[in-house]
Amino acid sequence: MSLAGQKRTCYCGEVRSSHIGQEITLQGWVHRRRDHGGVIFVDLRDRVGLCQVVFDPDLLAHFDQAHGLKDEFVLTVKGKVRQRPEGTINPNLATGEVEVMLNDFEILNSCVTLPFKLDEYARVNEDIRLRYRFIDLRRPEMQRNFFMRHKMYQVVRNFLSEEGFIEFTTPILTKSTPEGARDFLVPSRMNPGDFFALPQSPQLFKQLLMVAGYDKYFQIATCFRDEDLRANRQPEFTQIDIEASFITPEFIYDTMEGLVAAVWKACLDIDIPRPFPRLPYAEAMMKYGSDKPDLRYDLSITDLTEFFAGTYVKVFAAALESRGRIRALRLPGGADLSRKDLDDLTAFVAIYGSRGLAWFKVLENGELQSPLTKFLSPETQKGLIEQTSSQPGDIFFIVAASEKIVCDALGQLRIRLAAQRGLVTEGTYSFAWIVDFPLFEYSEREKVFTPSHHPFTMPAEEDIPKLQQYADDPAKYTDVHPEDHPLKNVRALAYDMAVNGEELGGGSIRIHNREVQNTLFKALNIQEEEARHKFGFLLDALSFGAPPHGGLAFGVDRMLMLLLGEKSIREVIAFPKTQSGSDLMVDAPSSVDDEQLKELHVRVVEPPKTA
Ligand code: AMO
Repeated sequence: MSLAGQKRTCYCGEVRSSHIGQEITLQGWVHRRRDHGGVIFVDLRDRVGLCQVVFDPDLLAHFDQAHGLKDEFVLTVKGKVRQRPEGTINPNLATGEVEVMLNDFEILNSCVTLPFKLDEYARVNEDIRLRYRFIDLRRPEMQRNFFMRHKMYQVVRNFLSEEGFIEFTTPILTKSTPEGARDFLVPSRMNPGDFFALPQSPQLFKQLLMVAGYDKYFQIATCFRDEDLRANRQPEFTQIDIEASFITPEFIYDTMEGLVAAVWKACLDIDIPRPFPRLPYAEAMMKYGSDKPDLRYDLSITDLTEFFAGTYVKVFAAALESRGRIRALRLPGGADLSRKDLDDLTAFVAIYGSRGLAWFKVLENGELQSPLTKFLSPETQKGLIEQTSSQPGDIFFIVAASEKIVCDALGQLRIRLAAQRGLVTEGTYSFAWIVDFPLFEYSEREKVFTPSHHPFTMPAEEDIPKLQQYADDPAKYTDVHPEDHPLKNVRALAYDMAVNGEELGGGSIRIHNREVQNTLFKALNIQEEEARHKFGFLLDALSFGAPPHGGLAFGVDRMLMLLLGEKSIREVIAFPKTQSGSDLMVDAPSSVDDEQLKELHVRVVEPPKTA
């Protein structure tokens, strides 16, 4: 008998004791098949879950066909739900109390041999999973991730709509948006030699929507950035992008905390405590060596730069000489670290540019043990214990180098020690706002100050005179040490939301005034002509009654990684790119034929072959 036209009565994963005695129709994939003395058991799977169906030769007219069933065949099955016999109940399965006794089934499609068994995905190379992503996505773990993604989208849309935000779609074929990465370019057939850029974010459009008077905007936006990939980065990713007019940062803090709290509640049933703590950037860098500190554990860094002023210890004196910093990280109870552990940690901080790692163990008698004690007076040793608040049984580490190296090395050491010593409680979340970001950062390579974020970020009002001072006469500061430069301490009205050591989102109040914008361009040595070429439309808009405005964007994929406890961003993106930026399934990027290139006025210059 054919089951064609038979409608599914429920999903496999929904069958429960309440269905007992009912005749139901299910449709799904053969997840697993077991033969038991003539009877065949199949776990049928769909997007909700698994249900055990029983092929009994006594009940099925065309039972012989059941012998041909293989993994991932697609079936319609019809049968009666019954209680599973005593001893066969599976408490790990939502449908584990029941089974369906088939009286009819139809094979809707077959399946060739699988490249990997769904249960054994962890043992296959990720490339195979990505090549056959449509199979990988069938796994229950993946279903969980994408149902969560869907749920998060719904919560975000509902929350923001209720708060009066309206959803927009901004262009994908557009002009470069400065977010600090390389652009993906698209050649224009109709305008020879011209290119569109894919948006690194909808930043400029959302600002224009504020100028247009829409007041509160949001978008779940796809962004494109051609940058080196990491576990938490993709070239194509999604943002929850937000902008609002006539606001202060307080509005953003409050509304965005509300949004995140709604997501955590709906997705994890966790009430996150609010308001989130706020940490000035300078303090975060000093205490945790990071602008996205993991605050789930209480390890912090102490500054000893002044303490060591005038020191004779060579490495410390050298750091002071070159205007560097000397800082310590205390690990409570860490005096049990072995010589080998310490060597490993020294090699670890070297990755971040530190030439060494001084360590000091505090012995039970309160004295310090360290290869460096012979260079330090008893008072200095006592002072160090006090400064670092160390107790007997503790160890503290000191790094002396440039501020960047000290922050990177001790910040990373902090993360590593916390992981090694089991200080991180999984499943907990520690949110914080990082505020008062610097407007500029010094590029060692280019020897200039560049914008830390994009060049539309509003400087803190108190710091505008410093900006002006520099913009009025940049030549005067050519030989000034970056530490003494007027741009060094200009703060921005910019903020990031950090959680568990990840940057979940970031944003700022924007410049809405042409004069401030011109001063900033001058400070950045961006010429009028260049500014007009790059974002003349925005500059025009600022002259046409732009309201004060600001916003923020969250990384959707990072948010999902956190919600789901995933270690890689690829686990929460349906069709991600590999670490080397390609899509193995559709085979992209790939070459195109000469005719197409000709139409686009593009010629490929092959890179020289390396030997
Ligand atoms: P920003 O560049 O900080 O700000 O990006 C906002 C958030 O987007 C996420 N993110 C990424 N996620 C995955 N892969 C990437 N390559 C990637 N790059 C960024 C991060 C980050 O916090 N226009 C501004 C926002 C604003 O000022 O309103 C912007 O894009 O979670």
